[in-house]
Amino acid sequence: MKTLTTEKLTIVGAAGMIGSNMAQSAILMKLSSNICLYDPYAKGLEGVAEELLQCGFKGVTITYTSDIKEALKDSKYVITSGGAARKEGMTREDLLKGNAEIAIQFGKDIKQYCPDVKHVVVIFNPADITGLLVLLYSGLKPSQVSTLAALDSTRLRNELAKHFHIHPDKITRCRTYGGHGEQMAVFSSTASVNGKPLSDLIGTPSLTNEEWQNIKERVIQGGKKIIELRGRSSFQSPSFLSLEMIGAIMGGPSFEWPVGVYVSGGDFNHIMMAMETSLDESGVHYKKPNGRKEEQDALNQSYKHLCALRDELIGSGVIPPISEWKGINSNLD
Ligand code: 2OP
Repeated sequence: MKTLTTEKLTIVGAAGMIGSNMAQSAILMKLSSNICLYDPYAKGLEGVAEELLQCGFKGVTITYTSDIKEALKDSKYVITSGGAARKEGMTREDLLKGNAEIAIQFGKDIKQYCPDVKHVVVIFNPADITGLLVLLYSGLKPSQVSTLAALDSTRLRNELAKHFHIHPDKITRCRTYGGHGEQMAVFSSTASVNGKPLSDLIGTPSLTNEEWQNIKERVIQGGKKIIELRGRSSFQSPSFLSLEMIGAIMGGPSFEWPVGVYVSGGDFNHIMMAMETSLDESGVHYKKPNGRKEEQDALNQSYKHLCALRDELIGSGVIPPISEWKGINSNLD
């Protein structure tokens, strides 16, 4: 099987758990025959690269560097997990300040070293905010930057499959929207269980209201649970899902889950969050979800939560007020 593209794919944060897993999976998924690994931690990076080279993969050129300029030069696709990871006892939002600085610098690096990049996927937390900052400072169009949010929708699928004791494939169109944080909107109205609308099952003996509340809570706290179980933040699922995202952008199979996207010009403004999205060679596109009243309320709450995080950065002078954004990135309204 041929790779999807010969164009350069750069994996940022490649010495970390997500990045190293991603590098291996990208090769196995045959996404690009030209994979560049970047991490400022040169020793760990060399270890990852050596291991991959020792796998004996055929048909792929693997390069690695701790020089961001070299890593991004001529790169057409970039996925970055290059921020601090969440540790036990932390929320994704606790990472805000440190990872915001990293995202801002990374956006500037994109602008300087690979302004012709086609797409950038941002997955380090809080991903909605770091993605927004990468978009702002990279000068890219909103369609060129997306963030990982799918992990919450796949967690909903998993929780429902466990609850109903059926194969996850029988659960379709699971959706969470809004932020990938403490305040996401877990929708029931989009999903079906074995062909039956999930909404019709909620409040019946097969899925009581209380059980549904517990499922929603487990979805929202899914990342925390992985940390409790493994002693470290999730890495297999974010790595695989973000590669599926970039694969869709490369012209591969379509991506079936919501992703984080820049949203503006309607009820929600100057924010990055999960909407009903599609990814293709022209980038990321979105539609506003249309849920029931309580679902829309949860989405509004999630939006407000993200605005508060964004405004905290504005208030502390980390980023300028929204009125000045257009001067930084003319593609933003
Ligand atoms: C997760 O939800 C850490 O965002 C990652 O597992």
